Amino acid sequence: MNKNLTIVIDGPAGSGKSTISKLLADQLGLAYIDTGAMYRAVALAAHERSVDPTDDRGLEEICRTIRLEFRGARLFMDGRDVSGEIRTPLMDTLSSAVSARPSVRHAMIGLQRRTAEGGGVVMEGRDIGTVVLPDARAKFFLTADPRVRGQRRYRERVQRGESANLSSVVTEIEKRDKNDSERELSPLKPAEDAVIIDTTDLSIPQVVEEIRKKISNI
Ligand code: DC
Repeated sequence: MNKNLTIVIDGPAGSGKSTISKLLADQLGLAYIDTGAMYRAVALAAHERSVDPTDDRGLEEICRTIRLEFRGARLFMDGRDVSGEIRTPLMDTLSSAVSARPSVRHAMIGLQRRTAEGGGVVMEGRDIGTVVLPDARAKFFLTADPRVRGQRRYRERVQRGESANLSSVVTEIEKRDKNDSERELSPLKPAEDAVIIDTTDLSIPQVVEEIRKKISNI
């Protein structure tokens, strides 16, 4: 396999993107870039600075001044590890809101393209195959039944010791899917040349295997 390969994994929340992307990056010796975490960091900064998620100028200023850096799968904002703080239900909602703003998308897409320059990355998100890296040759779009995606998120929260309610997690996921798919800029949708994998009834190793088979001749 080509060590400069860029692998794109898009899909909705709970489709298995992060687990699969991290595993692939580890197994293939590639860098792992979680673009959702970048939007989450912008949401966290907005929350901390009391910037409204519709305030484009305030968001622009945040994007211009924060320094985001991946160290392995962890994300640092201005030198502080925010990997845990960005994974709360509030940040789920706020990140979806800020990610629809033109100022934020413009800044993050530029940063994502610079990060992927030279290849050797697994980049996961919503619009990587359609907008950020349309020329990438290895594009995958993961999907799964919303109930199964909700169950996965519910289990993650319970494992972290948080209280959660399965039906409200499923409702939240459906609401976020709707937000992410119906927005004007970079809506969540598969690229025309993406391989679509429905992970509802597949195990993690089965999905990884399927992707590895597809990229073996690139
Ligand atoms: O993948 P995630 O759940 O951590 O993403 C958080 C939010 O960021 C999600 O609601 C949509 C948005 N997002 C986006 O608009 N574009 C991306 N490339 C990645 C995430």
